[in-house]
Amino acid sequence: QKIVVVMGGPSSEAEVSRRTGKAVLDALTSEGCNAVGLEFDPKNFAEDIKTCAPDVVFNAVHGAFGEDGRIQAVLELLGIPYTGSGVLASAVTMDKTAAKRLMLGEGISTPRSHIYRTVDRARDIAGEIAGEFSFPVVVKAASQGSSIGVVIVEEKDAIESALEECFRYGDDILVEEFISGKEITVAVLGDDKEQTILPIIEITTTSGRYDYESKYTKGASEHIIPARISGEEKKKAEEAAKACFCACSCRGVARFDMMLSADGTPFVIDINTVPGMTETSLVPDAARAVGISFGELCKKLVAMALE
Ligand code: DAL
Repeated sequence: QKIVVVMGGPSSEAEVSRRTGKAVLDALTSEGCNAVGLEFDPKNFAEDIKTCAPDVVFNAVHGAFGEDGRIQAVLELLGIPYTGSGVLASAVTMDKTAAKRLMLGEGISTPRSHIYRTVDRARDIAGEIAGEFSFPVVVKAASQGSSIGVVIVEEKDAIESALEECFRYGDDILVEEFISGKEITVAVLGDDKEQTILPIIEITTTSGRYDYESKYTKGASEHIIPARISGEEKKKAEEAAKACFCACSCRGVARFDMMLSADGTPFVIDINTVPGMTETSLVPDAARAVGISFGELCKKLVAMALE
């Protein structure tokens, strides 16, 4: 079976995607699979894929196009199976405002928030945010990943520049209350019928912030597996991850990032349907902790795409 690993592209996470793609390609090749890499080029993607003629696509494109349903839609049109979530799950989860509404509708704990659009800038949004939230407050561009377009604002005077930064990425932003506590993440493997929850990872950083630098610099963050949390906290975090996975109709693997508050409530802060598979990423470590090697994980995702 021919596997094409699609990676890169024009998104702000392209470099991360190339690192994921290369790691996946190397692993699949070492496992004896017939795998080739393809740099994602939106305009020529349909033609490029037809030329490669794969039996299955391993989607390693993070962020725009790869994680928002557009690559998935092209592959659906071409009738080519692919790893990970489908069109709707990808589109809904990539948009943090849509994901927020969905989580609220399902009763899943997620930080209190407010959605703003570009048109709202005619009002004094900074004043409204300062009136509604206490500091620090988190301002997020709606459709980015890897902490790009996420600003933690410590005081009122810094809101305007955070808005400026986040609106650069698109029309919608999310303003969220900051939950202080433990940063944890839960990966789920499966589909709508069956889900396997991988061990919960607790994340600590040398800088105190799990930002882009901490995520992709070796030694800048530590993955503690299993997370140092109580049995009750573990149960709640696993339930939240599973509820999100099912509510969004995810498939393959998805990772749910959470803040565990001091009173033991896991708040979902982000959903990743094409989670990083780089050498510093979380999902490969969670899988290894239950004896699933990186190569086996990649092969499992391919097998699930072909089911
Ligand atoms: N968005 C990146 C790739 C991650 O969450 O792993």
